[in-house]
Amino acid sequence: MHLTRLQIEGLRCLREVDLSVNSKAIWLAGPNGAGKTSVLEAIALLGFGRSFRGRVSDGVLARTGGPVQVVAHWIDAAGSERISGLRHWGDRWEARLDGVAQDRLSALATPFPVLAHHPESSRWVSGPAEERRRLVDWLAFHVEPIFADNSQRASRALRQRNHLLRAQAEAVEFDFWETALADAAEAMTRARRAAVAALEHALERVWPGLAGAAPAPRLQWRAGWREEAAPLRDLLYLQRERDRELGYTTIGPHRADLLLGRPFGVESPQCSRGQAKVLALALSLAQVDALRQWNGSHALLLLDDLRAELDLGHFEAVLDWLAARGGQVWISGTEPDPRAQARLTPLQVFHVEQGQLRTESTVEAPRQAL
Ligand SMILES: Nc1ncnc2c1ncn2[C@@H]1O[C@H](COP(=O)(O)OP(=O)(O)OP(=O)(O)O)[C@@H](O)[C@H]1O
Ligand SMILES: [Mg+2]
Repeated sequence: MHLTRLQIEGLRCLREVDLSVNSKAIWLAGPNGAGKTSVLEAIALLGFGRSFRGRVSDGVLARTGGPVQVVAHWIDAAGSERISGLRHWGDRWEARLDGVAQDRLSALATPFPVLAHHPESSRWVSGPAEERRRLVDWLAFHVEPIFADNSQRASRALRQRNHLLRAQAEAVEFDFWETALADAAEAMTRARRAAVAALEHALERVWPGLAGAAPAPRLQWRAGWREEAAPLRDLLYLQRERDRELGYTTIGPHRADLLLGRPFGVESPQCSRGQAKVLALALSLAQVDALRQWNGSHALLLLDDLRAELDLGHFEAVLDWLAARGGQVWISGTEPDPRAQARLTPLQVFHVEQGQLRTESTVEAPRQAL
């Protein structure tokens, strides 16, 4: 899949942007604060319904008021022309796919796999488990159509159980929601485990290019409860009085975690900052590769501030990997890098300055190269 046109209105400093895209590799160049990351956020909005820098209501809307609007024209894996559109006010939104109104943001995201890698992605290694759950859930969402439903069912049941815990409700009221939570959680966990297995295989393919001879880390999924002890439904029952005292549910899919093994011969939390960046980047590339291997779809890859993140050797390794893959990539960086221009041909460069974009150099790409 690749974009051919991108229109953005009212996103941070981007008032009105209309880009014609004609390459599988795009570089957004410009000084700090120009709006490069904001362009990537616009694309991510269509793939996530939120930005990788937070919710739309948390600063994505331009201060001038009005909604943010993003329209992307894109070509899907079958070569068909598609249009995704999202208008977001922060507290409400309207979404259209090929001109048809959608009542769920996941309907927009399902056919439009976007993976955003940005400086905060290294929090996968050093940050809380929630970040790593998102990583696995991205893949699970894109390969298993029912995953989003199960995830929503689990969240709803969890909210209800927490409400009952705090309301000191009668025991009989818990059965329905604990069963619902357990059913959805078991289904989610099967999908998440399958995603982790695919991710681990993909990581083995990506790792040597980035990390050299060191073996790729083994990944392990922790479901969020002691699966070996009993089914989740029984554990929720056993845990109920303790959870009542605490006022929230202490076990379940919301407590799951991805263990990242020993990536550079040390436990993952002991990675240096640079090692954490390389591991996070390897995980991002592995996600994209796992999706391609699973169902043949080429996710759109957004790499924010790529050069600033890496030393030269790792940067070149990523460029080589990008040059060999089929999907479209958008890279941001203050200057267009000559090594990227040499390897990612043709590279379309947009210059970003104070929220305005202009094409600095356009290289006509033959259709079949896309
Ligand atoms: N809600 C908002 N309304 C208007 N302008 C905003 C809003 N939020 C941020 N900005 C401004 O928009 C710009 C956003 O820039 P962005 O983060 O996209 O820049 P960048 O080119 O990626 O910069 P850097 O190289 O520093 O990463 C900044 O100048 C910022 O001050
Ligand atoms: Mg930026």
